[in-house]
Amino acid sequence: MSDEKTDPAPANGDSLRDVSRRDFLNEITLGALTVAGVGSATLTYRFLSPKVLFEQSTTFRAGDPDLYPVNSVTCLQDQQVFIVRTVAGFYAVSAVCTHLGCITQWKPEENIIVCPCHGSEFEPDGKKIQGPAAHSQPHYAINLTADGELEVDKLQTIEADKVLKI
Ligand code: FES
Repeated sequence: MSDEKTDPAPANGDSLRDVSRRDFLNEITLGALTVAGVGSATLTYRFLSPKVLFEQSTTFRAGDPDLYPVNSVTCLQDQQVFIVRTVAGFYAVSAVCTHLGCITQWKPEENIIVCPCHGSEFEPDGKKIQGPAAHSQPHYAINLTADGELEVDKLQTIEADKVLKI
């Protein structure tokens, strides 16, 4: 009878440990390559995708002129503009303080525009009364559209004495 072993077992288990270590290293390498590939694909996608910045339009419609009573100041908060109507006509004044850019507020009881940040005060037409603000608030171009609505262009500043007569 032969004393041969068909499947010799390692005497000290080194072979089994080597195979396990190799498999383990293969798994780690595969995992690292997968993470690197996904990261690289993500960065490439972000690099190639367009960077679109959605900014609010500088021109906006302020509605029907009849919405604004004569001798009124109306703050359009979302546009940061005051629509002022006097007996002479309409004008649009920036609500952004010329000091550090806070949004000013209309105080009808005092008939002034006030900055809540550092106390600058302006007349209803935006002319500086007092405070750290360097100058008066600018006027924006205001026109009437073909269908009869007020339209303000915040990109176009105009002289304070120009009024839209309707
Ligand atoms: S930001 Fe208006 S007074 Fe300073």
